[in-house]
Amino acid sequence: MTVDHSTLSIYPATPAQISEARRRTWSEWGKGLTLQEHLASDAAQDLLEGSRDGRLITWVLAPRDNSQTLDFKCSCETFKRTALVVNPASASVETVTCYAIASVFTPPENRGQGFARHMMRLMHWVVADEALLPSGDFPAVWGEPPCKVNGLRNGRFSTLWSDVGDFYSTCGPVPGTQDGWTIRGRSTTAWDLDACSFPDSTAGDSTAGDWTWLDDCGVVKLWEEDSEKIRRDVEQIHAGLTFTCLPSHGVASFQHRSLDIFSDRLDNPLRIWGVVSPDRSTYATWMMDPRPPAPRTLTVSRLRVEPSDFDALLGRVFEIAKKYDVERIEIWSLPSELEVVARQLGATTYLREEHLPAFKWYGKEREADVSWAFNERFGWC
Ligand SMILES: CC(C)(COP(=O)(O)OP(=O)(O)OC[C@H]1O[C@@H](n2cnc3c(N)ncnc32)[C@H](O)[C@@H]1OP(=O)(O)O)[C@@H](O)C(=O)NCCC(=O)NCCS
Repeated sequence: MTVDHSTLSIYPATPAQISEARRRTWSEWGKGLTLQEHLASDAAQDLLEGSRDGRLITWVLAPRDNSQTLDFKCSCETFKRTALVVNPASASVETVTCYAIASVFTPPENRGQGFARHMMRLMHWVVADEALLPSGDFPAVWGEPPCKVNGLRNGRFSTLWSDVGDFYSTCGPVPGTQDGWTIRGRSTTAWDLDACSFPDSTAGDSTAGDWTWLDDCGVVKLWEEDSEKIRRDVEQIHAGLTFTCLPSHGVASFQHRSLDIFSDRLDNPLRIWGVVSPDRSTYATWMMDPRPPAPRTLTVSRLRVEPSDFDALLGRVFEIAKKYDVERIEIWSLPSELEVVARQLGATTYLREEHLPAFKWYGKEREADVSWAFNERFGWC
């Protein structure tokens, strides 16, 4: 039976709906866990800095006349975050709010009826800055606009990382357009450690002992400093309208903390999440996904390095990788000058097909005229 989409709207989930949404996603994202473990892992994520204080909201697409039903059509999550926008036309860098959308899920029995697309179209109308997307412009064919939620309707842009190709480009704020999320930055540089001939990371490197390894507290402190450096760096950008997400406030740490339940089970769990040079100007941070059957992969979440120091820094990353039986190292959106060095050190660069970064800009400018700086793994959710 076809459902008239105007009879549906999106609502912040009730506690019972949150539990139901998480039960449903067990089959997709709880691989290797019992249902109880999957729910416990999600509950632990609620306590992380990036989720606390109302930053994480679970949404459901449900009938307007029964919005609290557990038989909702599909669900997703939003994380409220702080970001920077630099517009060369204005003097200073602006601190803005943005939203990262995650965990879009329709149960198999509801798929193919346009529910996820409709939910995502409606998402613009709950997160976008009201001045940039006024409720008065809400398409009448979809019924009444979603109810305003306190503290929202202030997003300058929203982001997501697609595992379903270009699907989200079809989810624009008005019907019949391809004006949804634009994919930007699929470049991936990777080393398969069995095959690659990177030199032994410590042999002959007189600087090896000078670097500091960073545990969970160490990377959190580094990402605070890093956010200030990012702010200074984007101030120098004169290449047009640019935004960047920031790694602080639990954004980057979500990369490894959300996998705690898997990491804790390892015989030799990784507890080091970054390395920094003595003057703290050069660093890499990372996460590691230990879930089989994929090769154990260490993905660099944030990288700050000059080309001349890249081999020394990579030496440290390889050192950790070898110690923790990592089979593959990945870096996303490596600048071209570093890509050249990486290739000389055995890496290949390609366009990946999963976790595709995508954004929707709510200003009057077109996405094609907006740049995404520091589009690295740290922003993923
Ligand atoms: C992806 C998903 C949310 C779509 O839900 P849905 O309610 O069936 O979506 P809709 O009916 O609105 O739209 C279906 C569209 O999604 C596309 N789609 C579904 N899975 C896809 C995939 N793996 N890759 C690319 N496109 C996909 C379909 O081709 C279809 O496109 P069409 O309308 O042009 O034919 C659902 O299949 C799901 O929950 N999958 C498992 C979880 C997941 O992968 N979530 C996305 C994480 S980024």
